[in-house]
Amino acid sequence: MEWTREMRYRPYQDYSAMDLLKLQRQAGSSPYQLHYHIHPASGLLNDPNGFNFFNHEWHVSYQNFPFGAVHGLKSWMHMSSTDLVHWQPRGMVLTPDTQYDSHGAYSGSALAKDGHLFLMYTGNHRDKDWTRTPYQLGAWMDKKGQVEKLKQPLFSKPTNISEHFRDPQLLEHNGHYYAILGAQTADDEAGHIDLWESDQLEDGWHEVGLVQISQYQMGYMVECPNLVFVDDHAVMIFCPQGLNKQVSDYQNIYPNMYLIGDNFDFDHAALINSSNTPVNLDYGFDVYASQAFNAPDGRAYVISWVGLPDTTYPTDDENWANCLSQVKELHIRDGQLYQQPVEAMRTLRIESKRYEFAGTLPMMPEPLSQQYELAMTIEKKQTGTLHLLGSQDGKHSLALHFDTKQGQLVIDRDQVGQPVATDHGTTRTIQLPEQQNLKLHIYIDHSLAEIFINDGAQVATLRYFADQNNNRIYFNQPTKVQGSLWPLSNM
Ligand code: FRU
Repeated sequence: MEWTREMRYRPYQDYSAMDLLKLQRQAGSSPYQLHYHIHPASGLLNDPNGFNFFNHEWHVSYQNFPFGAVHGLKSWMHMSSTDLVHWQPRGMVLTPDTQYDSHGAYSGSALAKDGHLFLMYTGNHRDKDWTRTPYQLGAWMDKKGQVEKLKQPLFSKPTNISEHFRDPQLLEHNGHYYAILGAQTADDEAGHIDLWESDQLEDGWHEVGLVQISQYQMGYMVECPNLVFVDDHAVMIFCPQGLNKQVSDYQNIYPNMYLIGDNFDFDHAALINSSNTPVNLDYGFDVYASQAFNAPDGRAYVISWVGLPDTTYPTDDENWANCLSQVKELHIRDGQLYQQPVEAMRTLRIESKRYEFAGTLPMMPEPLSQQYELAMTIEKKQTGTLHLLGSQDGKHSLALHFDTKQGQLVIDRDQVGQPVATDHGTTRTIQLPEQQNLKLHIYIDHSLAEIFINDGAQVATLRYFADQNNNRIYFNQPTKVQGSLWPLSNM
């Protein structure tokens, strides 16, 4: 079915409850459905929004077009959790129901204030000639999850910025409020992050200026910027669309990258002593629009959209698409960003069915379903291939080719199931330290693999669409290895 513009922007009230129920059932019964990751109740999921801690709970929403696997009229779909692992659906919190967000309640963030959660987001408005105007909007959410939008926009775009001005991240620093936004300058169409400041949340917003983040140009548009403080450093996570690959290489259609600075200068809009060359946040195939924030205790967490813009996925045929990653905790060691599963991920383990292995092995135990955690250390001085999600006839698998001598890991999803975004390659190559043991910590959730490498020095996230019976785990040759396997419960 061809999705026309008219269909994508059809008002929600034109659909019946039955239409939605049918779509929810269809998504719910998919063999590729996720069981311990946030996934759309129906339709398309994209960016995580409003990730924060409020009223003793963690909150996150996702961008959602509920009526099909396409980018249409977007809302925020709200989830909450007490442990960052088990998430409960809380319904739609922001819908496109005013003149300012008439064509989508786009991405934004949240900040807890005076017993309420303040949501700041971009209202996407288009006129009848389809000319876009972005508005930065505010709304208060109370403890029950009831939302009241502010009547007027917080601010509009400055004249030097094009129509591409969105995704505010709200921060509080030294008694002031700040927002960083993804922006494109109008004259030279360059990607930037724009910093705004106010003494109050509801008004008084003014531009501080474009943030100095790198000596290089950050493509033609930056989406979803996030500033987060990690182990006494400032980390900027952002999506520089169209970034020159000579500045920093990437294979996905659009990259999600980060820069590390010693600190952030809010007065002069600069990432102090920036690492300059952005680094891929994730080395897999499908991470974009990640959102990060500092919890009240200072810890830094990140959650990502597992999906890419302008990309089709096999579940589109089932009228749903994409999911969010698990939440990861951020640290910096030796100038490098580490991402680790949060402590509470252990609560998913079915400990009574834990299987331990050690020795020179070709085969691992075979899990009962594609819902497990696998942690292993492959001893150094070995090369080979670890096959996951393997079929009985040996023809299909997700192949991890490792070379611990030269220090390389190649992730190959060519043979794991239905093809996805093959124009952008079917392998991803990750550099490892030479002559070191290789630690792999892998989470499988029916159509999602999250691979933490060497305690999270790199993470590779990918979707796959394989026969759910393909559960063999084996090496291509006997390999010195030890580790554990746990089936996981649903969230
Ligand atoms: C990124 C993005 C954001 C925008 C949102 C709309 O994926 O394009 O820039 O706010 O998605 O759904």
